[in-house]
Amino acid sequence: MKIFINKLIPKAGMEILEHPDIDLLMPENPEISYDEWISYCQQCDAILNIGAYKIDAKFFDLCPSVKAVCLFSVGYDQVDLEEATKGGIPVSNTPDVLSKATSDISFMLMLMVSRLASFNTNQIRLGVRFKYFNPVANLGQELYGKTLGIFGLGRIGYEMAIKCQAAYQMPIIYHNRNRNKEMEEKLNAKYVSFEELLAQSDVLSIHANYSPEYLGHFDAKAFNQMKPNSILINTARGGFIDEDDLNQALSDGKVWGAGLDVTNPEPMLPDNPLLKHERVCVLPHIGSATIEARSGMARIAAENVVAFVEGKQLKTCLNP
Ligand code: DGY
Repeated sequence: MKIFINKLIPKAGMEILEHPDIDLLMPENPEISYDEWISYCQQCDAILNIGAYKIDAKFFDLCPSVKAVCLFSVGYDQVDLEEATKGGIPVSNTPDVLSKATSDISFMLMLMVSRLASFNTNQIRLGVRFKYFNPVANLGQELYGKTLGIFGLGRIGYEMAIKCQAAYQMPIIYHNRNRNKEMEEKLNAKYVSFEELLAQSDVLSIHANYSPEYLGHFDAKAFNQMKPNSILINTARGGFIDEDDLNQALSDGKVWGAGLDVTNPEPMLPDNPLLKHERVCVLPHIGSATIEARSGMARIAAENVVAFVEGKQLKTCLNP
């Protein structure tokens, strides 16, 4: 079977794809346009896909030969699952293996923002000379006993919560589309409304699955309800946050700081005013960028391809 893979993945996955019934198609240059991507997909029975090109009704129309979609990500916001299911096309993701790595980035961003680390590293890079130690400059905040609010308590949110509890004894509150009693019990976490989450969190960390109705969910109205000392962390998807409103909220002191591993668009443009704030740290979507997590993702995605080729159910199928 012909399988399209748009980018090289770690060895753990490439080895699994060396299967007698797999004929792999991979572009020499991984940065292909949407049209090039479509024309590769049109030649294949299934795709192992990395990236944000939409896999929607138009895609399924243009690529009728594609009978399975194996994503190299836990997030699946780029896929119209309903359309895939309508066409009988299984879609898989790569859950669990990146939860620790991604929550490490959430935790790291929380600390970096709380202690102005990114801004100060940059000052040194820029050659700013500090004449003497200033007792009233660069004052961050400590996190001991502060309240962690989680928007979207799933696997990654859980990992963030246990780190924050272990390190700083932070009480946990959360808001989800559906209440998760099992996680509540494990973490001694309290379920709250979205408004309560905004009003009570000292650190508010976004971990939900993204879907278009959440575009700009964290906007001026939300920021107005947050504590002036609050730190907003996002390692989920950039679309959750209205960046213009966040910029204004930071300038007006409605939100204290922000740590963003995901932005809209990605990467963030260098003239984005958010980058001028001392208490903002921005990263280029590196949540899962560890050898361990990416190898795990490669293995799961490749195993899903092999399952399809062998006529079996995809192991981490999202629409069984
Ligand atoms: C994921 O796995 O969803 C990461 O954010 C990479 O897209």
